[in-house]
Amino acid sequence: MKVLGIETSCDETGVAVYDTREGLLAHALYSQIALHAEYGGVVPELASRDHVRKLLPLIRQTLYEAGMAVADIDGVAYTAGPGLVGALLVGAGVARSLAWALDKPAIAVHHMEGHLLAPLLEDDPLGRPEPPFVALLVSGGHTQLIAVDAIGSYRLLGETLDDAAGEAFDKTAKLMGLPYPGGPQLAALAGQGVAGAYRFPRPMTNRPGLDFSFSGLKTQVMLAWRDSDQSDQARADIARAFEEAVVDTLAIKCERALEAAGCETLVVAGGVGANVRLREKLQAMAARRGGRVSFPRPAFCTDNGAMIAFAGALRLQAGQHGDASVQVWPRWDM
Ligand code: KG4
Ligand code: ZN
Repeated sequence: MKVLGIETSCDETGVAVYDTREGLLAHALYSQIALHAEYGGVVPELASRDHVRKLLPLIRQTLYEAGMAVADIDGVAYTAGPGLVGALLVGAGVARSLAWALDKPAIAVHHMEGHLLAPLLEDDPLGRPEPPFVALLVSGGHTQLIAVDAIGSYRLLGETLDDAAGEAFDKTAKLMGLPYPGGPQLAALAGQGVAGAYRFPRPMTNRPGLDFSFSGLKTQVMLAWRDSDQSDQARADIARAFEEAVVDTLAIKCERALEAAGCETLVVAGGVGANVRLREKLQAMAARRGGRVSFPRPAFCTDNGAMIAFAGALRLQAGQHGDASVQVWPRWDM
């Protein structure tokens, strides 16, 4: 079964074809980052309009790269939420129309389920991680620990009470004068910082539980930055201490979650999963415990069509699909 996946929940237009026999056949991504940069954040109306402009050409390109005609599509998967309503409607409208014209099934996919399953797209020397496992979802909008008992069966173990980890990266970058979207740039800067020059707390690790809170850390950074000489070195040193605090906190809670769930397989997904220090730290933790950790390739940590094609293919294969209505859920619990 060849499934076309469409992702338009925020500021990336992502398209891919996943074949349940052959794996990922092709994927393409168009990022709107440059479009929104001058506003310091995503402008929803501009995002929707750009998805309208880019989606059909990207579908054409992806099919071409997969060596397919449009009639070869066996099903269409699209992100139906959570996300920006106008942006979601572009993907849902195109996906449902295409499926209807081809007389093929279409399936609504939860964006975070897409992220969660993205690590399973990778070739892994140990084989594809099989449930039960623990998933750490760390994106700009979410920070969650989830027990995956089976594909489609998810239990929330803990989540952030305020800012998501990616959001904390972005806001911290912004308050030290880095351009939008600051998270990856802050991480790059942290590599030039001196270890130990600053130290920030590991929020909520000194009491039991699997929830997170990152907004206090942002305030700590603000005070440290205000009181520093605001040099490039100070910025890098603070970035380093901030990154270490976030990464340590995530690693401590991941280890607790593995213990709570009684398993030794961790998968990590979402934009912050691209963070090199986080990957190293979790790999070291897994090695020490004799367990394993899987990440998507960095390009599939952030939003992409491949994860939606894959999650949709699993659901379509299981015989699921919705009615023909173009429905989206800007807020949607997984
Ligand atoms: O999953 P994603 O592409 O979009 C959401 O659904 O939110 O994640 C984007 C988030 C942003 O907050 C971005 O700053 C963060 O992931 N991010 C990173 C890195 N790369 C992306 N944060 C820390 N280190 C990185 N290398
Ligand atoms: Zn995302």
